[in-house]
Amino acid sequence: MKKIAVLISGGGSNLQSIIDSVDGGRLNLEIAVVISNKEGVYGLTRAENHNIPAVVVKHSDFSTREDFERRLIEIIDGCGVELVVLAGFMRVLTPLFVNHYHHRIINIHPALLPSFPGTHGQKQAFDYGVRFTGCTTHFVDEGTDTGPIILQAVVPVLPDDNEETLAARILKEEHRIYPESLRLWSEGRLKIAGRKVRIQDPVKR
Ligand code: GRF
Repeated sequence: MKKIAVLISGGGSNLQSIIDSVDGGRLNLEIAVVISNKEGVYGLTRAENHNIPAVVVKHSDFSTREDFERRLIEIIDGCGVELVVLAGFMRVLTPLFVNHYHHRIINIHPALLPSFPGTHGQKQAFDYGVRFTGCTTHFVDEGTDTGPIILQAVVPVLPDDNEETLAARILKEEHRIYPESLRLWSEGRLKIAGRKVRIQDPVKR
């Protein structure tokens, strides 16, 4: 079974959606380790509740981003992991990390990329006044939220929305497309060709 590492910085509701999909038999992979760059976050408790090894690596303990990433790589590679899953991980990754896991890092972004990259994608879309926003899963490259797109879900902005209600509606879709993206990856059905990700048909048995 393929192994993944999930990197978090906070509440870990996306992590939970992946755990639930694995436990429910909808996702055939093993979460080998959960790593948080912050201590005391609820995502760590979610991992522990499911007996998933959970490690804190505080970025503030390292003098450079690269030193921090070298420690992450040491842990991740030590677990025999094939894919790094960013689930609300709030650190910018340098080329050191991104190139080490070329095409083997997936992220979720709470907007319809390439619109509203970077932090607070939901608020950026709300403030801009778009009628539709959503969420995007993508492979990670050296840019900020610029890698090849896997799946997207569209979410309407309703007249009575505020940032919070919109973010909650987007999050619900995140919890659907992240496990689905990982399922496609685990079945070997995602083929990257330049900017595009082709989703191959399931192999007929
Ligand atoms: C999500 O909105 C994700 O798209 C963004 O950070 C949030 C993390 O939420 N990158 P959670 O920690 O998974 O609950």
